[in-house]
Amino acid sequence: MHLGHLHVAVVHFPIALAMAAAVADLLWWLTQRDLFRHAGLYCLAGAVLTIPAALLTGDQLADELFPPDIAPQGSLATLLEYHQIMAFVSLGVLAAAVVVRILWARKAARWQPVLYGMLMLALVACIGVTGDLGGKMVYGADWFARLFS
Ligand code: HEM
Repeated sequence: MHLGHLHVAVVHFPIALAMAAAVADLLWWLTQRDLFRHAGLYCLAGAVLTIPAALLTGDQLADELFPPDIAPQGSLATLLEYHQIMAFVSLGVLAAAVVVRILWARKAARWQPVLYGMLMLALVACIGVTGDLGGKMVYGADWFARLFS
C-alpha cells in the first residue's frame, strides 16, 4: 500500500480548516456573533483531526519517494527538512491554541483571548509556510512568483 500518495489530497484539509478557523474567529471578535464562534470551533476541531493525517502521509511519502539509498540532495533535501520541521511546529502551535481555548471555555481570564489570537495568527503563518515549502518541492522555488508572470 502507498499511503503517502494520499498526502497531496490530505494536505488541503488542515491548510483550509486552520485558515477558516482563524477567519471565523476574527469575524467572531469583530461581530461577537455566536455563529462565528461555533464556525471557528468546528474548523479548529477539523484541523486537529486532519493535521495528524497530513503528518503521517507526509512521512510515508518521504519514505516512498526517498528510500535511504536515494536520499534527496541539495535544495530538495533542505526544503524537505524545513517542510517537515514546519509541519511539526504547526502541530505544536495548534495544540497550544486548543489548550488555551479549552482553558478559556472553562474559566475566562483576560489573557486567554489575546494569547489565543496570537496563537491562531502563528498557526496561519506556520501552516502557510509548511504548504509553501511543499509547493516549492513539487512546483519549484518560484511557484508563487510564476502566478504573476
Ligand atoms: C501540516 C502538515 C503538512 C502539510 C500542510 C503539508 C503540505 C504539503 C503540500 C501542500 C505539498 C505539495 C503537494 C502537491 O501539490 O503535490 C506537500 C508535499 C510533500 N510533503 Fe508535505 N505537508 C505536511 C507534512 C509533511 C511531513 C511531516 C512530511 C515528511 C517529511 C511531508 C513530506 C512531503 C513530501 C515528501 C512531499 C512531496 C515532495 C515531492 O513530490 O517532491 N509533508 N506537502
